[in-house]
Amino acid sequence: MTLFLAIETSCDETAAAVFTDEPRVLSSVVASQTDLHARFGGVVPEVAARAHLQRLLPVVDDALRQANVTLADIGCVAVHHTPGLVGALLVGVTAAKMFSLALGVPLIGVNHVHGHLYACRLAAGHDIFPCVGLVVSGGHTLLFDCPSALTFRVVGSTLDDAAGEAFDKVAALLGLGFPGGPALEREAASGNPKAFKFPRSMIHDERLDFSFSGLKTAVLYSVGGQNNARPAAPPPGPFRADIAAGFQQAVVEVLVSKARQALRELGHERLAVGGGVAANRPFREALGRMCEAQGVELIIPPMSLCTDNAAMAAMAVESYRLGRFAGLDLDAMPSLEYRQ
Ligand code: KG4
Ligand code: ZN
Repeated sequence: MTLFLAIETSCDETAAAVFTDEPRVLSSVVASQTDLHARFGGVVPEVAARAHLQRLLPVVDDALRQANVTLADIGCVAVHHTPGLVGALLVGVTAAKMFSLALGVPLIGVNHVHGHLYACRLAAGHDIFPCVGLVVSGGHTLLFDCPSALTFRVVGSTLDDAAGEAFDKVAALLGLGFPGGPALEREAASGNPKAFKFPRSMIHDERLDFSFSGLKTAVLYSVGGQNNARPAAPPPGPFRADIAAGFQQAVVEVLVSKARQALRELGHERLAVGGGVAANRPFREALGRMCEAQGVELIIPPMSLCTDNAAMAAMAVESYRLGRFAGLDLDAMPSLEYRQ
């Protein structure tokens, strides 16, 4: 059995995990930086990179301790090296190279976005491929055709904002603070989703792409009127809750509808959904209803595996089996071109 040490530092979570080649997760430690970024209303790249530098080694120590192993037991090091904030990624990639070199074990670079789908494989506990993959995070909204564990063919993507980004921006507009997604979900719980008629962009388009910027602008006008480009946040109350509920419902309807369209087009019988927005309860419920109606298996990880973590780098196990290792020239790559 080979034991893997995995590292994640792509954005604002410093994370490490230990897993076996099964793959079975022995530990997964996540140190969130939310406290550091909240007062800026968003993630500050330089602050994130410095915090990773301070927190990564203690987080690795914790992960080893919780797995009841030592560095000497580790047979392979995996790291998310793309996409993300370049300074943040560099901390993880450099540390991973250091561990690989010092321990004399192979290094594997893992794509963080693909990792969000591999979290579904971990959650399922069995092979989930072929499947349709939907990643809905702060930086990406992507539909994939996944014929096998290491093949991810993009079949749809956002033309402007990512869904998580829209959640964060609308939450800021409503004065709900940072991080926006969970705050908006809480606010929406007491609102009427039908009180405002927000657009469902591209829902009838034959392409599998998404667009959320029109929805964001519609929310802006609902808050401040057509001429008020920078409105003050509305006070707590039904008006604010209704906007949150209407926005959330619009995003959920578009995401679920596009996932159904992809399932029909590709003919797969499984849908794997990952990324931070997959932690949203109304979204999870709507996906569940759609998949049941379509006779499709829905694979969606528990909340802790939806948001950023290092366990999802267990995709490295698949590369390991094929002998696909990285060299010490493995680079942090901030952006990936995800157009088809
Ligand atoms: O996957 P993730 O943790 O980081 C990236 O790779 O981007 O996703 C973060 C995104 C943020 O935009 C956050 O607001 C959103 O996921 N998010 C949510 C919820 N929890 C996190 N969006 C809606 N509802 C939630 N409960
Ligand atoms: Zn992520």
